[in-house]
Amino acid sequence: MTLANFVAETKRAAPRKRGRPPLGNRAMTVAERSRRYRKHKVESSAPTWSTPPHITAAVLEAFKRERFCLDPASPDPPVTPCRRFYSVRHDGLAQSWSGELVWCNPPYGRGQLQRWIFKAIAEHQAGDARKVVLLVPARMETEGMCRLRDIGAAMLLLRRRLAFGTAGDRAPWASLVAVLGADAGELEALGRLLPDNRRIA
Ligand SMILES: C[S@@+](CC[C@H](N)C(=O)[O-])C[C@H]1O[C@@H](n2cnc3c(N)ncnc32)[C@H](O)[C@@H]1O
Repeated sequence: MTLANFVAETKRAAPRKRGRPPLGNRAMTVAERSRRYRKHKVESSAPTWSTPPHITAAVLEAFKRERFCLDPASPDPPVTPCRRFYSVRHDGLAQSWSGELVWCNPPYGRGQLQRWIFKAIAEHQAGDARKVVLLVPARMETEGMCRLRDIGAAMLLLRRRLAFGTAGDRAPWASLVAVLGADAGELEALGRLLPDNRRIA
């Protein structure tokens, strides 16, 4: 077969698809990135946008617990192992977070994150929530993150982006586990048990 024939055959066998080729190694276009971001934004307000279970399992193991005392930002029924929970119906921001170990993966809607982070700090500083573990986007420039750093929260950056809930794709942002009130042993265990993380504060 001549080269010209071979090329003609190949083109017939694999007709060129319309649109852009699959991602493979190429970078995402701006349109693709914004489509993916919009998809996640919509899903982030859905009640089932839950923490991957291997993350909560690692946290519980590090703190040597079977359940969290409280999940204040939860669907009803809860999807994390917890003794108590607050859902939209109770409004976790308006409740006391008393408990030994509180897990909080807050809603990521506009303006929400900061309020939840501030609430977590207030509850911890008041002595109600003895230990608080937050799962939040690693946006270090935000007011909530700066406040967490100011008060000396430990922070473990998860270097592999998470696939939340039923979303097949990984989120288009990195996540961070911020911890208030843990002792050195618990933090060491967390660093060992959380997947691919780096302690950044
Ligand atoms: C990112 S999801 C986390 C779910 C679960 N706690 C977890 O870690 O998998 C945030 C949850 O907070 C709930 N939520 C939103 N506003 C709330 C409020 N004011 N009080 C309590 N829960 C709320 C949402 O319904 C959603 O289930």
